[in-house]
Amino acid sequence: MNLGLSIKVRAAKYSAIEESLKEFMRYSVKGGSPDKIVTECIVVAIWSNGRLSDEAKILDTKTKKLISGLIRSGDLKGNLGETHLIYHPPGIKSKRILLAGAGEKKKFNGASANKLIISAFKACLKIESASIHFCINSCEPSDRDRYWIASRISQEAEIAGYRYGTTKSKKPKAWATKTVSLPPKVSGHRKSLESSLKRGQAIGKAVNVARELGNLPGNICTPTYLAEQATSLANKNRRVSAKILSEKQMARLGMGSLLSVSAGSAEEAKLIVIEYSGAKANTRPHAIVGKGITFDTGGISLKSSGGMDEMKFDMCGAASVIATMGCVAELKLPINVVGLVAAAENMPGSKATKPGDIVTTMSGKTVEILNTDAEGRLVLCDALTYVERFKPQTVIDIATLTGAAVATFGSYVNALLSNNQSLAETIIESGEQCLDRAWQLPLWDDYQHLLNSNFADIANIGGPRAGTITAACFLSRFTKNQKWAHLDIAGSAWHSGAQKGATGRPVSLLVEYLSKQKA
Ligand code: BES
Ligand code: MN
Ligand code: ZN
Repeated sequence: MNLGLSIKVRAAKYSAIEESLKEFMRYSVKGGSPDKIVTECIVVAIWSNGRLSDEAKILDTKTKKLISGLIRSGDLKGNLGETHLIYHPPGIKSKRILLAGAGEKKKFNGASANKLIISAFKACLKIESASIHFCINSCEPSDRDRYWIASRISQEAEIAGYRYGTTKSKKPKAWATKTVSLPPKVSGHRKSLESSLKRGQAIGKAVNVARELGNLPGNICTPTYLAEQATSLANKNRRVSAKILSEKQMARLGMGSLLSVSAGSAEEAKLIVIEYSGAKANTRPHAIVGKGITFDTGGISLKSSGGMDEMKFDMCGAASVIATMGCVAELKLPINVVGLVAAAENMPGSKATKPGDIVTTMSGKTVEILNTDAEGRLVLCDALTYVERFKPQTVIDIATLTGAAVATFGSYVNALLSNNQSLAETIIESGEQCLDRAWQLPLWDDYQHLLNSNFADIANIGGPRAGTITAACFLSRFTKNQKWAHLDIAGSAWHSGAQKGATGRPVSLLVEYLSKQKA
């Protein structure tokens, strides 16, 4: 069997974007007392030390103390993230009860609520429950409202439901859950809760698009494939358009830096331009720019082979841009957004760029390429110059740029650097709000001299220290005229090890940020 060929054939037909438009789950607001709700699984919370939430108390009475019995026997503590399933409880309409630990009541905040929701879905994945009803209204986080909780429920349901199967001959079984519901607190809140559920669903789906694009291997997810996804997105949305620049067109624009990265590859580089118009045509857009290295071998400065497969994830910035553009269109945000993707494959070869080679960027600045593995900044600098023609209000680039960001932050944080403090703060706030958090590093002039070159205007590496900062310093040379921020997602974009796979970050952060913007 020629596996390579069969996958190629399937890839031609497969579209991550089209897949994302299918509806797998429905979300609704459904009122009624917890004991009378007809569902296959009702979720109620238990506080630490086994204190019952209000909803759990009702179920406990109706089930003749089944829940308090479990607590007394020590089977359930109520720790945050803990779950316990009861089958066929007597005295109530629901087929199952899922008891979800909520931790200490006085510490309960948005992050704990989210943890509770994720654990509940994880537990539900193991059972064949066609419907789930979340009865957690009495758990009020100190820092979030019930609309936030509602959108988290649908977002996490989508994220929990995603399973990668595209290149497996045996497809993973679809999730049994088809409907997720929650009760209104006051009946007047139904409409707003419903729209929160819709919003969370849209964001969750977008996160999954970014995950799917990230997870696809480098022999399928090429620059051309990413371009096709952008085109397919545009074909499906009246307010979205896509334009793909070929290598020839980029050469005409003088993008010598971007083209130096794809020089060693048989795959043609693409500059993908996606425009969303939700505001008047003359409104200045917000721009997001993604690093789309569909595979990073390091080029002539070849990486070592251990774990190199993970360099298929080096386009996760690009994936987040494409997914965010789709989400912004679905949410019909009243702003204009331009999404750029600088897509290329970084390979060694007889035509590949060599250490010491000097290229001229679109800006006119020359760059001495001392390390061909520092390729992300080389594709981004030309994209960041190109984006100026849209006169964006703000520019954010998203890139799996440096191993140093992984060393600094591990996997929990998006590294943030910016030449504009109020933009940086808005991004940090957005991240806090949606729990896709960013933390800022300094972009001080003190570091700029590390990029000095004896032979060109600037070198593409700044030495072994402060790698995330010097990489951002390089980009800052090309964004002087912009309100610009850089997100280094090298640590946050994917998991390694047994859970290897793309996370879809920072799609939530980008959607949250753009949702705050006015036309
Ligand atoms: N894509 C890598 C960054 C990376 C490495 C992300 C490991 C996640 C895990 C990037 O293109 C790269 O190779 N960066 C080099 C830069 C260095 C040569 C200055 C790095 O970080 O080692
Ligand atoms: Mn590299
Ligand atoms: Zn890279």
